[in-house]
This record gives sequence, C-alpha cells and structure tokens, in this order.
Amino acid sequence: MHLLKDADIDPAPLMGKTVAVLGYGNQGRAQALNLKDSGIDVVVGLRGGSGSAFDAESTGLATALLEEAVRSADVVMMLSPDETHEALYRQIEPHLGSGAALGFSHGLSIRFGFIDPRPDLDVFLLAPKGPGTALRSLYVEGKGMLAAWAVARDVSGNARDIALAYGRAIGCGRAGLIATTFAEEAEADLFNEQAVVWGAVPELLIAGFETLVTGGVSPELAYLECVGELKLIAELIEARGIAGMREAISNTAELGALLGGKRIVDAGVRARMAEVLSEVRAGRFAEELRREEAQGYPRLEQARRENRQTPIEQTYRRLSDAEN
Ligand SMILES: NC(=O)c1ccc[n+]([C@@H]2O[C@H](COP(=O)([O-])OP(=O)(O)OC[C@H]3O[C@@H](n4cnc5c(N)ncnc54)[C@H](OP(=O)(O)O)[C@@H]3O)[C@@H](O)[C@H]2O)c1
Repeated sequence: MHLLKDADIDPAPLMGKTVAVLGYGNQGRAQALNLKDSGIDVVVGLRGGSGSAFDAESTGLATALLEEAVRSADVVMMLSPDETHEALYRQIEPHLGSGAALGFSHGLSIRFGFIDPRPDLDVFLLAPKGPGTALRSLYVEGKGMLAAWAVARDVSGNARDIALAYGRAIGCGRAGLIATTFAEEAEADLFNEQAVVWGAVPELLIAGFETLVTGGVSPELAYLECVGELKLIAELIEARGIAGMREAISNTAELGALLGGKRIVDAGVRARMAEVLSEVRAGRFAEELRREEAQGYPRLEQARRENRQTPIEQTYRRLSDAEN
C-alpha cells in the first residue's frame, strides 16, 4: 500500500486557482476553512437565504449564491448532502466554466449515477475518512486526517494532481492519501455505515444495555459497561491494532472476549453482512436514499423522535446531568 504524504504532493496545481465549496455543513465548513488557511482562494456557494452565510462570513470566508460561486471556479467541490447532488448539479451545470474540475468527498453520486458530469469536466474524489469537525480540529493542531482519493475522469491531464493538491490543502496529506476508485469508496463506505461502525455497533450497544437491564442490572451501570467503555477500546485499537488491544486488556477481559466475541458475531452475522454488501452494490440503498429525500425524510424524522425517548437515552441524559 502506498500512502501519499505532503512531501510527495505538489501543491502547485491549486495555487492561484479558485475553489468553490458548495455547502457549509459538516465537511463544507472544515474543508473551506482548511483551504483558506492553506492559502487557497475559496468561495463558499450557498442557497439563497442560507442560515450558514453569517457563520461563513464571520470566519473571513467569501460567500456567493451557488450559480455565482461556480462561475469563476477552477475547482467545484460538491459538499451538500449526497441525496441533493442530482438537483444541485442540474442547477449549477450551465454555470460551470469549461474544463473545470468537479470534486466529491463521497463516491456515491458518481457510482450510482445521481450525476453524469458534462464531458469537459475533470472528476475527482477526495474523501476524508472522518467527520468535518475532526478534519478541522486536526488541521488546526498541525495534524491531518487520512483520506481516499480517486479520479473518475481526466480530461485536462491534471485531475490526479488537482485531487492530490486538494487533499494536501485540506490537511489530509499530513496523515496520508490512499488511492481508491469511486465505486470502491462508495461501496465500502455504505457497507460500513450499515453493517459495521454506524449501523451494527450502536445496535450491539443497545442490545447489550437492554439485556443487562432486563437481567436486573441498574440502567446506569449497564450504560457504563456497555457504552461507556467504547471510547477506551477505540483508542486502544487506534494506538495498537486489534491484536495489541487484546493484549493490553486484563486476562479476564481477553478470555471473555475470546469466548464471547465469535459466539455473538457468528456465521449468521457474516452472511447478513454479505447480503448488505450485495444490496449496496446493486444500488438498493442509493434508491432508498433518493426515495427518503423525495418524501421529505419521513423515516429519518420518525427514528430521530423515537430514539430520543428510549431508556438508553434517558440513562445517558441522567448520567450526563450527574457528571456536569
Ligand atoms: N459528514 C461527514 O462526516 C462526512 C465525512 C466524509 C464525507 N462526507 C461527504 O461530504 C458531503 C457533504 O456531507 P455533509 O455531512 O458535510 O453534509 P451536510 O452537513 O448535511 O451539508 C449541509 C450543507 O449543505 C447545504 N445544502 C443542503 N441541501 C442543499 C441543496 N439542496 N442545495 C444546496 N445546498 C444544500 C446546506 O445549506 P444551508 O446552509 O442552506 O442549510 C448546508 O450548507 C457528502 O458527500 C458526504 O457523503 C461527509
């Protein structure tokens, strides 16, 4: 595996160029600020009446309406939610300069055909592997976040160099840039969201909490056991790998993990993970996302309301109040 770092990357392809960052949310804010602090000319493109304009301008960033932002931009970064990309691209396409580069931080819109970019555009991916808040705070600390990069179309002959220079300018070259494709990044990211870190892990925590409480353990202790130790294991894995984490814990915990882990995550779990991966690759999730957006996010809104009222959330709030 070859990780490209700052020393391997020429910053020149972005120097003197204008980057339009479309959207000022989780990624948009962090990427726009990191670009500005790296000396790149940035304009944040926003919808009319966007509540984000004040925040962006108060940090010294230039803002403009979407169409205006892209008109003079050499690089246009699509950082609104993925399910809005299709309509957003339709809106800006007539205003994109000839030969501009269109960038993404997730492969979904290209992999699943939400967007079919105009033939004269370079198309690249620079996907930081973590949330924008961390992307920004790492940059400010002089560190960086790992990112994946890819080129879907290279009309100018410079798409690779633009992608890498972009990754360097947002600070990811300090940690490293790993080569991928739009398809690989999109499929792996969607799989992980559903089957591993964001989908399965929280459900495992909830199931563990509920099992202990049903078994007569107090909700507070059940929460501390099942949820409270998550940060500790994440830090150990980051610092030492999974094998090193296992060696760092007590023999009691290590033997318990050995006997219990594979009993819970058994062949049935692996079979369902394989099903999730096939469904992702067949575009089933991309269709769900389109439908959810078209209907005004009914399932997400209902789930958010219900999640706030669960026993595990009530326990979290009681523990937080007691600690603060
Ligand atoms: N979130 C992450 O941790 C993360 C990590 C890696 C990659 N990514 C990728 O980064 C991209 C952006 O994700 P995000 O989570 O940063 O998005 P986000 O926070 O939800 O984006 C919010 C911003 O998008 C704007 N926006 C919303 N709908 C829009 C529309 N229809 N037209 C134009 N602008 C619109 C909002 O405008 P207003 O200001 O008007 O509300 C706001 O400025 C996605 O491709 C995502 O997959 C995200």
